[in-house]
Amino acid sequence: MSGSELAYSDAGSGPAVVLLHGYPFDRSMWREQVDFLTAHRYRIIAPDLRGFGETVAQTSVCEPSAPGHKLKSVPLNEADRTITSMADMARDVATLMDKLEIVDAAICGLSMGGYVAFEFVHLFPTRARALVLAGTRAPADNEQEKQARAQQAEQMLAKGMGDLAGATLPKLLAAGTLTEKPGVVGRVREMILRADPRGAAAAQRGMAARRDYSGDLPGIKVPVLIIVGRQDPIRPVTDAEFMHRGLSDSRLRIIEEAAHMTNTEQPEIFNRALQKFLGTAVV
Ligand code: MLT
Repeated sequence: MSGSELAYSDAGSGPAVVLLHGYPFDRSMWREQVDFLTAHRYRIIAPDLRGFGETVAQTSVCEPSAPGHKLKSVPLNEADRTITSMADMARDVATLMDKLEIVDAAICGLSMGGYVAFEFVHLFPTRARALVLAGTRAPADNEQEKQARAQQAEQMLAKGMGDLAGATLPKLLAAGTLTEKPGVVGRVREMILRADPRGAAAAQRGMAARRDYSGDLPGIKVPVLIIVGRQDPIRPVTDAEFMHRGLSDSRLRIIEEAAHMTNTEQPEIFNRALQKFLGTAVV
């Protein structure tokens, strides 16, 4: 990790599950999954990926966000902020697992976290016991998408995260969530607004440069759970179906009343799907 370390939560005991957040979020998006899975005898590791959450800060000790959650971080290398590749993030996760003496784990990523999960299983095939790919996709960006990311990175650096929050909330959350779950809306908005534009911009550039993972699909030999929100306009059901067709051992769970933030919009349904999958794939 070239001198940097991640802030992370480490809770529970049992088979290890690593939760990788989306963009531009942080590990707090997994709150309901941490609570649920630790109660069901799993050890949950949830890092703030490079440039996000408390990993941004030059801190040595962070306050716990919830009782029993152990958080630690150390300085982030300034030079890492220009571009953070998905492979950088995957290597960070492996280094964190080394530090925690975790040989292998189920790797669960949402959206950007899914890209990191693809890189992780590619770089460290023996360390992923199973994958959960939520709201993500295998193909790389096209030129138009890459340009949009470059523009967004510049805008965030110039003006902060406010515009992004306004523009993306209606895509991240289903119409029903937006009208009926103000707590979820507020929580997602807050996560975006508190993201460090430098970390977010570096990750945007990293996502623009990411590989096409489509060719990796047939070579992934571990069990995979694909989760997608029926109303997700960012990574729609067709992306999930594409991965499902390419993988040799996958199951697809479509969550009807959710868009992109399936785990936060419908935590009970997401958790039950996760529990059922982990019960067969990991234990
Ligand atoms: C995310 O939620 O992580 C992003 O939508 C991923 C992306 O921009 O491709």
